[in-house]
Amino acid sequence: MEQIERALRKSREQRRTAVGHQNGTAAKIRLTPAATHTQTRCVSLAPSLLDAHRVVSAAVHHPVTDVYRSLRAQVLQALNARDKTTIGITSANHGEGKTLTAVNLAIAMAMDVNHNVLLVDADLRNPGVATCLGLEATLGVSDYLTGDATIADCLVHPRIERLTVLPARNRIGNSAELLASPQMVHLARELKERYADRLIVYDLPPILTVGDAIGFLPTIDATLLVVRDGATRVPDLNRALELLGGYNLIGTVLNGVP
Ligand SMILES: Nc1ncnc2c1ncn2[C@@H]1O[C@H](COP(=O)(O)OP(=O)(O)OP(=O)(O)O)[C@@H](O)[C@H]1O
Ligand SMILES: [Mg+2]
Repeated sequence: MEQIERALRKSREQRRTAVGHQNGTAAKIRLTPAATHTQTRCVSLAPSLLDAHRVVSAAVHHPVTDVYRSLRAQVLQALNARDKTTIGITSANHGEGKTLTAVNLAIAMAMDVNHNVLLVDADLRNPGVATCLGLEATLGVSDYLTGDATIADCLVHPRIERLTVLPARNRIGNSAELLASPQMVHLARELKERYADRLIVYDLPPILTVGDAIGFLPTIDATLLVVRDGATRVPDLNRALELLGGYNLIGTVLNGVP
């Protein structure tokens, strides 16, 4: 994996914006009261399922929890420095750890008492957030996009304080068109305006495999690229970095390091 590390180092040097180069906490982020969930469907998560799915950020004692806390600090600092609130998690190809990173990052952010967080599953063709959290999505982004539900109908509060989830209930075949569609852009704008006090984390599709993510990137403030140790090929990494370069890439996450 030396090649990957070299490519990552080079991209960081070129951009000088990589998350890994940020230190400290987000001093300028506004303090906000915890969001209320009076109308939101509440669902309790099963600790055994979270554990089985490697969702560890809510755990008090877990060797990997600190890694996500550190990622949180760096992401918050990068967002804060740009006065931004929305971030998309993507990768070059399938299965490189986007959903796991998005879920753990969102929970880690919500565990910080200063932040209300909305986690949105925007991988409409291959939704994974609900499964990763072990919750059943009765309504989701697709129902909103087809006009069968309001945003409020789709939101779930997983009984983790300050965290709200907007799942994607089922696969949508033509998601490439839908993700970059005016309805989806409208959804992103609406979420940002309506939940102005929240940080919004989007779990995106892979950037090289389908056109979805690229079309949606202009609507979000920042992106984070997940790279899987032993899986992401260097040419794919370079191509993904190239594509994301124009869309506020704030850094990379090296996932699955032994
Ligand atoms: N660091 C890791 N260690 C072990 N397993 C991992 C790690 N990261 C991800 N996985 C596992 O690999 C699989 C793919 O991870 P995940 O769903 O997060 O990737 P993804 O990029 O969202 O995939 P997709 O493109 O299919 O949506 C999952 O089963 C997940 O639990
Ligand atoms: Mg996924």
